[in-house]
Amino acid sequence: MSRYKYKVCFLGDTAVGKTSIITRLMYNKFDSNYQATVGADFLTKSFKLNQNYIKLQLWDTAGQEKFRSLMPSYIRNSSAAIIVYDITNRESFNSIDYWIEDIRNERGDEAIIYLVGNKTDDPNNRLISIEELEKKAKQNNCNFLETSAKVDHNVNLLFEKLCTSLVSKF
Ligand code: GTP
Ligand code: MG
Repeated sequence: MSRYKYKVCFLGDTAVGKTSIITRLMYNKFDSNYQATVGADFLTKSFKLNQNYIKLQLWDTAGQEKFRSLMPSYIRNSSAAIIVYDITNRESFNSIDYWIEDIRNERGDEAIIYLVGNKTDDPNNRLISIEELEKKAKQNNCNFLETSAKVDHNVNLLFEKLCTSLVSKF
């Protein structure tokens, strides 16, 4: 049995659901009222996976533009970055390029990156297909997944995959 500890930062435009995904993971709850994250929040969560104990230090960063200059300092210390966008919001998908650029500037090719399309519970307003996500992920050497924090779709799977990626790389 081995023990591992990793820092992971959540990035992405405002209101895409970063805090909601983490709240679903930690407390199995969902709040439809939006409360913007200020700066960043820090939480830890432990996982047991294949006889390994894995402790993740999660940095839930603020997507609002006014906090943007703080992001490199969170990215710098992280082994993995989860870039979240909203599948009903084209602009949040386009922003992935900027977030990847920030990560590459700080970490080169070292960091594991997951692209996560959130809000799959709202298919009528979907603007980004899974094929488009897959294409962007392949172009940028990233992993990818779609989730819904609201109806608890793929949230646990995201963290399982993330832990597996972290243990096999670091
Ligand atoms: P910042 O802290 O400003 O960066 O935003 P955030 O990315 O943390 O977004 P947050 O989790 O606060 O969610 C923003 C809004 O989207 C809230 O009203 C949530 O209830 C809603 N939301 C989050 N996840 C989902 C989801 O999976 N489906 C739906 N329908 N709404 C969601
Ligand atoms: Mg937030």
